[in-house]
Amino acid sequence: MRQGSRAAASVLPALLCAGCAGAQSAFDTGGAQALGLARLMIFIMAVCAAVWLAVMAALAFALWRRRQEATEPLAIDARRQRRMSLVVGGSVAATVVIIGLFTVTSFWVTRSLWAGDRDAVKIDMRGYQWWWQVTYRDGNQAFTTANEIHVPVGRLVRIRLTADDVIHSFWVPSLTGKQDLIPGRTNEVSFVAERPGVYRGQCAEFCGLQHARMAMQVIAQSPQDYDAWRQSQLAPAAKPSDPEQVFGEQVFLSKPCAACHTVRGTSATAQLGPDLTHVASRSTIAAGVLETTRGSLAAWIADPQTIKPGNNMPMVALSPDELNAISAYMASLK
Ligand code: CUA
Repeated sequence: MRQGSRAAASVLPALLCAGCAGAQSAFDTGGAQALGLARLMIFIMAVCAAVWLAVMAALAFALWRRRQEATEPLAIDARRQRRMSLVVGGSVAATVVIIGLFTVTSFWVTRSLWAGDRDAVKIDMRGYQWWWQVTYRDGNQAFTTANEIHVPVGRLVRIRLTADDVIHSFWVPSLTGKQDLIPGRTNEVSFVAERPGVYRGQCAEFCGLQHARMAMQVIAQSPQDYDAWRQSQLAPAAKPSDPEQVFGEQVFLSKPCAACHTVRGTSATAQLGPDLTHVASRSTIAAGVLETTRGSLAAWIADPQTIKPGNNMPMVALSPDELNAISAYMASLK
């Protein structure tokens, strides 16, 4: 028993602190918008903790000062009545003031979440069950990718949010607050990432079987690195170099794969699934489920329904040679 409580005493602070750091923590902030929210949360928690302590102290005091049963229960003690009215009135007033303060500060912080209209990186995100389609708009230089957003540090990013099927919610806690993606309407979110890094995001609205596996990454990098990434994404897919990859491309284009996916520079132009033009440049596949390697690409293509049950990718009948070749081709699409 004592060992158990000692273990709990050491595990509990670790669990509490684990929520305060990392790539997906609202307290490990990477920009002014998330910092405002983190401060608001700390402020509200601190005030609530103070109120809780005050209530507990009042309770302890009342128990300690418990008076004897009155001999005449209906007798009115005017002094005591006045004191009680003062305490109750004071508590009601304090509650009103505190709730008013929370309302005003919440409103003020929520307003500051709109990062402005200046020169921005403009991105469209569309939520699908269960992945994110990401389109960078910049005049006629647009390109589409999935599940991973690259942004330049220090520059405003504005994201237009829509959904294809059900309601999803964009949430990258280290950068800004949540915003829903709703079919039939467009929402917007904006933020500035102020330090380079990889920020993890997660769909924050229950959207079906694989809601928990609808992750994304925001990669904030220097403007030079961002421009280099952008240029590489604008380019069409790399032409396969070795015979296995060439065969893989043929298999990809002749099988049902091409009916759902785009690989720019080939005849595959469908939009039902993620754009695969540079799939191997992304760090994960299947919206954060697997790290991108040739092996995991093969596993995913061979049996997507076991890895992520209920998703829209069907199992395509492939011979072992075809599967090998197609995963080699996919892994070459950097
Ligand atoms: Cu999309 Cu939950």
